[in-house]
Amino acid sequence: MKILVTGAKGQLGTEIMARAEASRHTYVFTDVLEDAAKGILQLDITDPNAIPADVDVIINCAAYTDVNRAESDEQTAMKVNALAPALLAKAAKASGALLIHISTDYVFDGKTDRPYRENDPAVPLSAYGRTKLAGEKAIEAEGCRYMIFRTAWLYSNHGRNFFLTMARLTAEKQEVNVVDDQRGTPTYAGDLADLIYNIVENGNLAATGTYHYTDEGDCTWYEFAKAINDMLGHGCSVRPCRTEDYPSPAARPACSVLDKTKVKETFGIEIPHWRDSLAKAVNNMKL
Ligand SMILES: NC(=O)c1ccc[n+]([C@@H]2O[C@H](COP(=O)([O-])OP(=O)(O)OC[C@H]3O[C@@H](n4cnc5c(N)ncnc54)[C@H](OP(=O)(O)O)[C@@H]3O)[C@@H](O)[C@H]2O)c1
Repeated sequence: MKILVTGAKGQLGTEIMARAEASRHTYVFTDVLEDAAKGILQLDITDPNAIPADVDVIINCAAYTDVNRAESDEQTAMKVNALAPALLAKAAKASGALLIHISTDYVFDGKTDRPYRENDPAVPLSAYGRTKLAGEKAIEAEGCRYMIFRTAWLYSNHGRNFFLTMARLTAEKQEVNVVDDQRGTPTYAGDLADLIYNIVENGNLAATGTYHYTDEGDCTWYEFAKAINDMLGHGCSVRPCRTEDYPSPAARPACSVLDKTKVKETFGIEIPHWRDSLAKAVNNMKL
């Protein structure tokens, strides 16, 4: 099989690339800018002529992921997060390929008192959430074979993410304040990469639909930051604060924990607890 991976320089793309070294299939890794040293080709997903017709699976890891910047630049975010997935879906439909796409817990408003199921009404609070929801809808409307994985609070040992930011801040500062009234689930990009890579490698390509995938458990950003500080052995004082004490351009859901029953039953997987995966990320950092 030939598998096209977009956004290969990002957190998820990097993790998929690391796994694919062992594959018997042909993976083509791409990003908006080429990186010849890493074997990453140039492919801008917003370019309608860029998507090759001869692939069996497209794994779309490319996205506009700056949640705050999207508030003042929704047009660009919409282009990357909705128009481009529509183009990928069109190409997938024409060639019969499976499109694997990633979406977000930020399609929900966070006002529920139980974990969100896949068919719960999506009511995004932010521009980023609106563009990601529009991407989901565009893929569904195209009628190609697709799998959409909604994930949350993605972090890894590379790139820009809360884990690396807190690792740095708790090393540099004596005290940090972190919001304690937004609940969700930190998800190690390597865990989501394992799911997607195994689906492709096992040829488990028939289960079209939308799925929720995060690590197990849930916490607030404050609890996540405290765990990072503790596991790294940093002596910083991590203190809880409220969202209103830490104003940011984009509104975020107060509770966006996702129900993972469907993904577990469909693919027969066990999902690691976020604390266990955080321990892996901390160990990787020390290597
Ligand atoms: N990060 C999170 O907390 C989070 C949470 C829930 C869901 N998700 C979703 O999970 C997926 C993976 O996220 P991630 O954190 O791995 O993202 P990421 O690290 O921001 O990587 C995204 C990659 O896509 C590239 N890209 C941007 N525009 C592109 C274009 N027009 N054509 C081709 N590539 C383009 C980016 O390049 P540049 O860096 O040069 O722009 C970057 O290399 C995304 O769909 C995201 O929406 C993420």
